Amino acid sequence: MSLFTFGVFLGVAACGSSLNNGLLRTPPMGWVPWERFRCNTDCSHDPDNCISEHLIKAMADRLAGDGWKKLGYEYVSLDDCWEAPKRDAQGRLQPDPERFPSGIKALADYVHSKGLKFGIYSDLGKTTCEHYPGTPLDAIETDARTFAEWGVDLLKLDGCFSNSSTKAVGYPRMGLALNQTGRQIAYSCSWPAYEGGLPPKVNYTLLGQTCNLWRNYLDMEDSWDRLFRIIEWYGDHQDVLQPAAGPGGWNDPDTLIIGDFGLSYEQSKVQVALWAVLAAPLFMSCNLRTISDEAKDLLQNPLLIYISQDSLGIQGRRITKSHYFEVWKRPLADGQYAVAVLNNGTDGMPRPFATTAGLLGIWGCPSGYKVYDVLQKLFMGTYQLNDTITSKVAPTGVILMFLMPLC
Ligand SMILES: *[C@@H]1O[C@H](CO)[C@@H](O)[C@H](O)[C@H]1NC(C)=O
Ligand SMILES: *[C@@H]1O[C@H](CO)[C@@H](O)[C@H](O)[C@H]1NC(C)=O
Ligand SMILES: *[C@@H]1O[C@H](CO)[C@@H](O)[C@H](O)[C@H]1NC(C)=O
Ligand SMILES: *[C@@H]1O[C@H](CO)[C@@H](O)[C@H](O)[C@H]1NC(C)=O
Ligand SMILES: *[C@@H]1O[C@H](CO)[C@@H](O)[C@H](O)[C@H]1NC(C)=O
Repeated sequence: MSLFTFGVFLGVAACGSSLNNGLLRTPPMGWVPWERFRCNTDCSHDPDNCISEHLIKAMADRLAGDGWKKLGYEYVSLDDCWEAPKRDAQGRLQPDPERFPSGIKALADYVHSKGLKFGIYSDLGKTTCEHYPGTPLDAIETDARTFAEWGVDLLKLDGCFSNSSTKAVGYPRMGLALNQTGRQIAYSCSWPAYEGGLPPKVNYTLLGQTCNLWRNYLDMEDSWDRLFRIIEWYGDHQDVLQPAAGPGGWNDPDTLIIGDFGLSYEQSKVQVALWAVLAAPLFMSCNLRTISDEAKDLLQNPLLIYISQDSLGIQGRRITKSHYFEVWKRPLADGQYAVAVLNNGTDGMPRPFATTAGLLGIWGCPSGYKVYDVLQKLFMGTYQLNDTITSKVAPTGVILMFLMPLC
């Protein structure tokens, strides 16, 4: 059977069964190393920041000990660069023996002992992006079994060094292989990000039947420019992307860089606000040992997390865009709404903004809404549908409002 017919065959098989692992009914929350710790393998000079069991255990300790876990941040994951340069004698992936002396099973056990879940990384190709052993087509079942035996709860499958036809075969095949292990393993696919993120090359119906989350676009980097570019891409392509998301399957605009080096406080607010409105996975990539109180306060904001984890799982949309302001709206359960007003200006002082519930297209409750400023933790007032809601939005800043119906 050629690769192509095999792909079609698996595509059809996936269509009948659809991804039905019951996982990630709300966007996943947790921590991943990649944006912050990259492929730092130099444990002799930088023992606290190299990719190692020491780092993963330290982050698990922080997640469990510093209030993260009880708010829902439960995944602690590996990304690239955890592996030894070669598979073992039985052909299985194995960790670098110096950086992971206890092995991955013991590490997953440690993470589970903290009440957390453990994620791992591989790449559908001969090697990973950083040239460690990957998962080519003929290793998919072996690797799925290995991950299940280790107690893995989430697999991110990257897409370096394989072509489109291999991806079309491999991503569904790994989904099937994970299912057949009998262990519930959430499945994160980088597939669309390697295909430009848009139809006709990307079939979002098939993705939703194959994966629990998927990276659509560029990697996050530690800068406002990259963050704003990613936000704009999700807005510009929302007609395709927004309907693809829902309980069990999420668009993934990549990791939170709050607590790192590149964003101001106002810009950090933009990322948390937009990620909540986009129903995006909340995976932090920062050093939880040294994170500032300010950054922690943003990421641990209970109303923000309530919005992110809303049970309807509807991704928000950008409803207006002018020279300075973008308005994003997400409908929530029980007639509630989240509205983010983003000021993309880079000059001057906080800019006044005025709207009404009606102008936002929020008419559901004729008696009006209580409105809260989520990130300042302020009650803004009670507003009838035509009452003017005013605010000021800092340059490269945001106001995130939560509207609760009086009905
Ligand atoms: C595998 O797929 C079947 C059919 O969709 C589903 O009922 C089952 O729960 C899945 N098992 C796991 C472990 O994901
Ligand atoms: C894709 O890669 C596979 C495996 O390396 C190869 O056999 C196949 O010919 C490639 N297909 C295309 C269209 O390049
Ligand atoms: C996308 O995938 C779905 C599910 O496999 C399939 O029914 C549909 O025909 C595909 N759409 C296109 C345009 O190929
Ligand atoms: C803000 O967005 C508008 C509309 O896309 C654009 O014209 C303007 O250049 C942007 N401003 C900045 C500072 O990025
Ligand atoms: C709100 O304003 C619109 C337009 O001015 C008007 O038609 C409508 O009756 C007003 N609604 C309420 C509840 O005041």
